[in-house]
Amino acid sequence: MAATHALFDLCAMPEYVGALRAEAQSALAESGGVWQYSIIKNLRQLDSFLKESQRVNQSTFLGFDRKVMSAIKLSDGTILPPGSLIMMPGGPMSRDPEYYKSPGSFEGRRFCSPAANVSDDTSKATARTTQDYTSIEPGNLSWGNGRFTCPGRWYGAAMIKLILANLLIKYDVSFPGGQTERPANTKYDTEVHPDFGATVRFARRQLD
Ligand code: HEM
Repeated sequence: MAATHALFDLCAMPEYVGALRAEAQSALAESGGVWQYSIIKNLRQLDSFLKESQRVNQSTFLGFDRKVMSAIKLSDGTILPPGSLIMMPGGPMSRDPEYYKSPGSFEGRRFCSPAANVSDDTSKATARTTQDYTSIEPGNLSWGNGRFTCPGRWYGAAMIKLILANLLIKYDVSFPGGQTERPANTKYDTEVHPDFGATVRFARRQLD
C-alpha cells in the first residue's frame, strides 16, 4: 500500500520526479549498476518523499488497538480500568500542527533537513533527530510505537525504496486520460487504502 500511495503521489506531483530520478540514477551509477542496501538507505530524497506520502496517507484513521490489562493512570489523572479497549488517532495526529508544520500540504522534502519539519510549537518539536522513513517521531504511528513497533520496517522500507527507485529510472508514470489528481483514498472500518481500482500508465523510458 505504501508503494501504491507513493506511485499515486508521483503521478499527481510530477514536479518531484526529476530530482528523485536523478538521485536514484546517480546512486546506482556510483555503485556500478548493482543495488545494495547501503545505497538504497542513502536515497535521502526518496526516503523523505515516502515518509511524507506515508504521513499524508496514514493507513489507519484509528490504530494501535489495545486492551487494558491492568489499570493505567494517565498524566491528567484519567484512569483506564482493566478491560477497556483503547485506540490512538493516528490519522488526525499525522495532520496535527502540534507535530508537523503546515501539515495540510504535501512537502516531499519535509524530512530532508532537520529544521524543515519542526513545528511552530517548539515544545512539541518533531523529528529533529529522527528524519528517516523508518524513524518514529512524535505524531507518527505509521509503524506503531513502543515495545511492539514494527520490526520489519527496515526491510519493508528498503523494498519500497527499491521498487520506487527502479520505477523512476525505467518508467514515466502518469494517470490516464489527462487525470492530474490522485484518486481519493478509500476507507474500510478504521483503515485507509489507496483506490485499488485506479489505473496508472507506465511508459518505458529510453535508457542511456
Ligand atoms: C510499509 C510497510 C509496513 C507498515 C506500514 C507496517 C506497520 C506496522 C505497525 C503499525 C505495527 C504495529 C501494530 C501494533 O502495535 O498494533 C507493525 C507490527 C509488526 N510488523 Fe509491520 N509494517 C510494515 C511492514 C512489515 C514487514 C515487511 C514485516 C516483516 C517482514 C513486518 C512485521 C511486523 C511484525 C512481526 C509486527 C508485530 C510486532 C509485535 O507485535 O511485536 N511489518 N507493523
